[in-house]
Amino acid sequence: MPLRIGSVTLSSNLCLAPLAGYTNLPFRRLIRELGGVGLCTTDLVNARSLLEGRAKALELIASAPWDRPLAVQLYGSNPAELAAAAQRLADRGVDIVDLNMGCPVRKVCRTGSGAALLRDVQRAADLVYQVVQAVRIPVTCKMRLGWDDTHITAPELARAFEQAGVAAITIHGRTRQQGFTGTVNLDGIRAVVQAVRAIPIIGNGDVTTPQAAKTMFDRTGCAAVSIGRGAFYNPWIFQQTQHYLETGELLPEPTLEDRLTVMTRHLDYMIEFFGEARACRMFRKIALQYATRFGPAAEFRRRIVTLERRDQLPEILDAYRHWRAQFLDEAGNLLPAYAPRPFAAHPAIPVPAGPVERW
Ligand SMILES: Cc1cc2nc3c(=O)[nH]c(=O)nc-3n(C[C@H](O)[C@H](O)[C@H](O)COP(=O)(O)O)c2cc1C
Repeated sequence: MPLRIGSVTLSSNLCLAPLAGYTNLPFRRLIRELGGVGLCTTDLVNARSLLEGRAKALELIASAPWDRPLAVQLYGSNPAELAAAAQRLADRGVDIVDLNMGCPVRKVCRTGSGAALLRDVQRAADLVYQVVQAVRIPVTCKMRLGWDDTHITAPELARAFEQAGVAAITIHGRTRQQGFTGTVNLDGIRAVVQAVRAIPIIGNGDVTTPQAAKTMFDRTGCAAVSIGRGAFYNPWIFQQTQHYLETGELLPEPTLEDRLTVMTRHLDYMIEFFGEARACRMFRKIALQYATRFGPAAEFRRRIVTLERRDQLPEILDAYRHWRAQFLDEAGNLLPAYAPRPFAAHPAIPVPAGPVERW
């Protein structure tokens, strides 16, 4: 049965999680073309900034006819502003408004937004209710398990949000205190699934392989899985996971040339959207994510972080192919000692670091 979020029907129960700095229109275009994703969400957008029409907010909500269904994620602590911003999005044809209640970053929590809302069930539920009342499109929430291990509020919040009218909830199986450390707590997600009556719960956290997605479904009973960082270095993950869930078979891994082709297309889409100079600068960190699946890549990493123009890329790739040949056998395959293995956990992806008090 296709998954429904309120009035919106999804073609798959796999979602792209919002990732500030990554889930822009060019990335969503690439992910949608590769297939398997049922819903994409934008980076988080400040409600006031959207109401004021600031360029940054307008860039974050930029979309296109093929970019559907789309959820825009809002954050803020003022219910009237959030409601007005949600109306603005509904008028623009956005399918779903997602409210951020999980962001651990200090800049966001300090204003009473993001994960700070996990501490006050009544205030959070009132805020959600006001947004739900303001629009006809579905409103969803994304949150963590709670503020810390001694304050696991997600099941109680989920119940309150369902009563307030939200159409689905994404739950990242960590607390705010955990930041991005430790492992995701599948039992904690299961408790949220059990707390609600009818709305779909979307499980999130550490899904880096099709098998990890299946474990998330099996252990938590969630209706959908949301994948964030796993899609950075493996944009095929939705297609691979959908196939695995349907057939029990793993698709063959993309070849190096597949990866280079898709990575290059990603840059081209970024250039179309951000302009060449800015796209090339932004692409440096993105290319490093792709490189985590190349096998030996020191030569690529060294050169790509200097990228300034699109026409430099073919030469960088050729030099890299040439350098990488030393790690290949006669058939052109990576010698086993150098082949990348699937990740059990995420490779280093810059996340807000250090003591959480300083985020
Ligand atoms: C760089 C980065 C940016 C993120 N930005 C957002 C965001 O804008 N909104 C949000 O709700 N979560 C954000 N998250 C959290 C992710 O959506 C997700 O909940 C978390 O990374 C766990 O899922 P994953 O292991 O599949 O990445 C971000 C995470 C990272 C690493």
